[in-house]
Amino acid sequence: MRKLIIELNSLEITDTVARKMAAHLFPGVILLLWGSMGAGKTTFAKSLCAGLGANPEIVTSPTYTLVNMYPAHLSIFHVDLYRLTDPEQLDDFDREDLIAEEGLTLVEWPEYILNYLTDETVLNLLFETVSENQRRLSLESEYSEFDILFDTLEQPISSQ
Ligand SMILES: Nc1ncnc2c1ncn2[C@@H]1O[C@H](COP(=O)(O)OP(=O)(O)OP(=O)(O)O)[C@@H](O)[C@H]1O
Ligand SMILES: [Mg+2]
Repeated sequence: MRKLIIELNSLEITDTVARKMAAHLFPGVILLLWGSMGAGKTTFAKSLCAGLGANPEIVTSPTYTLVNMYPAHLSIFHVDLYRLTDPEQLDDFDREDLIAEEGLTLVEWPEYILNYLTDETVLNLLFETVSENQRRLSLESEYSEFDILFDTLEQPISSQ
């Protein structure tokens, strides 16, 4: 299990870190974005999608639709399960409507999607609010596929 904590001390740093991360993602990855309201999940997702070539203006929380799809270098599914009150509501979805097997899947409020996951390469991202403009990002994954991503993000931002 590999872990890393990154202080996101400004919106600019959040943008830089998300774009750095985007450069090391690959088809089939599932990013689980944990953290409370306003912790920065969607803000991070926007920069990450921009880093993958999507238009950041179309990246908005799919709170009501549950899933948004964005064309990019990898096709991106952006899932937000905040509104889900009962995990059975997910039964209406086919697995391929929720998880981009050939692309990248981002999930906000991911608790209820855990049952859908088997052996996907999952990277956990936990966002915490430190102050009005500061967030803390904790990355965690058991998959060695993310070693380069961790190695890169371990470098101080200024030297990247
Ligand atoms: N360093 C920072 N990194 C990310 N967001 C920041 C930072 N500083 C301030 N913010 C602000 O915090 C807010 C984060 O909102 P965002 O919608 O991304 O949160 P969220 O985790 O997706 O919440 P929700 O659970 O409601 O979807 C934005 O208004 C953003 O501008
Ligand atoms: Mg959000």
